[in-house]
Amino acid sequence: MAISSDQAVGALRAAAEPTRLRILALLSREELAVLELCRILGQSQPRVSRHLKLLAEAGLVERFPDGAWVFYRLSRASPVRGLADQILALIAEDDPTLARDAARLAGVAEERAQQASQYFAENAARWDEIRSLYTAEDAVEAAILRMAGDGPFDRVVDLGSGTGRMLTLLGERARSGVGLDLSRQMLNIARAQVASAGLKAFELRHGDILATGLGEGEADLVVIHQVLHYLADPGAAVAEAARLVRPRGRLLIVDFAPHDLEFLRSEHRHRRLGFSDMEMERWLAEAGLAAPRTESLPPSAPGGLTVKIWGAERQAARLRRIA
Ligand SMILES: C[S@@+](CC[C@H](N)C(=O)[O-])C[C@H]1O[C@@H](n2cnc3c(N)ncnc32)[C@H](O)[C@@H]1O
Repeated sequence: MAISSDQAVGALRAAAEPTRLRILALLSREELAVLELCRILGQSQPRVSRHLKLLAEAGLVERFPDGAWVFYRLSRASPVRGLADQILALIAEDDPTLARDAARLAGVAEERAQQASQYFAENAARWDEIRSLYTAEDAVEAAILRMAGDGPFDRVVDLGSGTGRMLTLLGERARSGVGLDLSRQMLNIARAQVASAGLKAFELRHGDILATGLGEGEADLVVIHQVLHYLADPGAAVAEAARLVRPRGRLLIVDFAPHDLEFLRSEHRHRRLGFSDMEMERWLAEAGLAAPRTESLPPSAPGGLTVKIWGAERQAARLRRIA
């Protein structure tokens, strides 16, 4: 999309400052909260917020509130976004300033990953109890079964499989399945659960939802149940999940509607406090899946959480016309 000379000057002015350029480079790697940017840049919150405001006014970045936090990312739809990409592409990959920032960002991400891994290791044995604390679990599972359809499925993939509940829930309708998780403690419990449910053609693998190592179009049903809110880049996880869905196959994403229970972030390692339909629909559309159906399941008690299920299908591959 072409931009006006005023827009170009505004965007170039905004980017032409060392800290703001560093912010653009960081946000090109990952969406980040203001406090995380302050930590990486070694600058105070008022200073960083002022830089972010200028970048947002120029259309280079966009802010999105999430509970009491505010995250920033490079603008997606702004016509000046291409300018940011071009400027960043000109800078040498080993530029010392940006390389130092990238290393600090990796440190922040590693710390987050360690904390999450410790949390899941400590809570694996109690996971089935924790899962049901804030939601109407029976109603959620009934809705998942409805939205999955009767099958039978050739292959179900459960990403972030935890204790294996989705595999045992859907197992009867599937000929084979694979659950993938980063936590070895969770995987051990899931293996036992899947074995005691008699699901012989099901396996549990250690792996990251962002790089599953599974084949394109390998599954006719992919499930991501209560995992996205832990991730720094949930959109990338949706894209990887969608890649696994074969034509006419289905992806089910189960997560929370936007909420403001901040303690889930501080005490239970959630990164995002729920997702809006708009955000989820955009990720699904970008991943090539047709318009999703959604269900909302209200909390079982006051103070609980609304669970959303987004179900989207990959359309059948078009037959090539023979001339
Ligand atoms: C809240 S539990 C949900 C588990 C299961 N889906 C359920 O509903 O019971 C989240 C799971 O996601 C896993 N997880 C978190 N980040 C992951 C990642 N990047 N790749 C794979 N698994 C991940 C955790 O280890 C944990 O088992």
